[in-house]
Amino acid sequence: MRSLDEFASAKLAELERSSLRRALVDTTRVTGIWLLRDGRRLLSFSCNDYLNLTHHPAVKDAAIEALRVYGLGAGASRLVTGNHPLFAELEGRLARLKNAQAACIFGSGYLANLGIIPALVDPGDLVLIDELAHACLWAGARLARAAVVSFRHADVGHVGELLMEQRRRHPRTLIATDGVFSMDGDIAPLHELAALAQRHDAWLMSDDAHGLGVVGGTRGSSFAHGTRADVPLQMGTLSKALGAYGGYLCASAAVVDLIRNRARTVIYSTGLPPAVIAGAIAALDLIEREPDYAALPLAKAKTFARRAGLPEPESPIVPVLLGEAEAALAASRLLEDHGFLVVAIRPPTVPAGTARLRLTFTAQHPDAEIERLADLIRTRVLAQATTARAAQ
Ligand SMILES: Cc1ncc(COP(=O)(O)O)c(C=O)c1O
Repeated sequence: MRSLDEFASAKLAELERSSLRRALVDTTRVTGIWLLRDGRRLLSFSCNDYLNLTHHPAVKDAAIEALRVYGLGAGASRLVTGNHPLFAELEGRLARLKNAQAACIFGSGYLANLGIIPALVDPGDLVLIDELAHACLWAGARLARAAVVSFRHADVGHVGELLMEQRRRHPRTLIATDGVFSMDGDIAPLHELAALAQRHDAWLMSDDAHGLGVVGGTRGSSFAHGTRADVPLQMGTLSKALGAYGGYLCASAAVVDLIRNRARTVIYSTGLPPAVIAGAIAALDLIEREPDYAALPLAKAKTFARRAGLPEPESPIVPVLLGEAEAALAASRLLEDHGFLVVAIRPPTVPAGTARLRLTFTAQHPDAEIERLADLIRTRVLAQATTARAAQ
């Protein structure tokens, strides 16, 4: 249809002009760290496979065995016939790990946030959300049609002010934040937010997609600062350190029961394939058995940052802020010429003027390659960014 195609072409041209047009690139991950792109073998620092479990033999074997026995798809929503007994096993394991009474698994992390928030929050309620929270927390908050107010990144004082001003006007208030921020790698001040939430009868929800398995002694961001932060809604995903796919919420038994009854993304979406759940259980086994291995991504991120002259990271995610999209794209191309895949992250994924390289470190990255990458970033990428800033 002509008007539709004209609309699409005009939008694409607009994106092209601001270096924000994206394209899918065929990528074949051949191991937990190496991949093939455009006929080249590259060492990836852009996968969230922190423990390289996507390719672990025990994880693959568990999934293959379940696939052979139970078939590919779940066949229906979990509330109909798609609730294989493996779900209960994984939910029990996740709840124990997170020190919660119960857990509910969703089709993905994105679907979890789209389901959880509207199931708990109604129009007329308030959602306070960190300005840098992941897109799917924002999407869940908007879908709930509540009043959505953002607070300055990790600014507990600002959250306190907003609660003082606005809490009384709404029957219920949810505070939503990433546990580990996906594009910056820092950890939310969960203890302080939990104390505020307690004082104002607000419900604290963390998105621990990037925490599980790699911070807080493998248990995630609520456990990152010694004692456990009291977060009644701990959401996360199976798709990063666990190397599988799917999302989850760990919470009280009552909340999880309500979620199973009200979250539309559980009720009206097919259950995950049993093989994926079997793989995730095998991945949890490995993480629980090998905490020293699980500590490697953060240790490697710290080694890299020291050598590159960047601030010490709190998680395996290290951002290198470059400003404009074009600068981030150029840096990414330069690193690719040296055999590294470090994808440029541009608006709207990050705020305007903060385009960056986002590096993720994994257990199996060779130390010598990390050193080579750090030297390149220090001498070629950061040095050039400093020169460009001075010339402005
Ligand atoms: C913070 C955060 N939350 C949620 C998600 C979505 O998880 P999933 O990939 O399982 O949909 C992601 C991943 O992209 C993420 O980074």
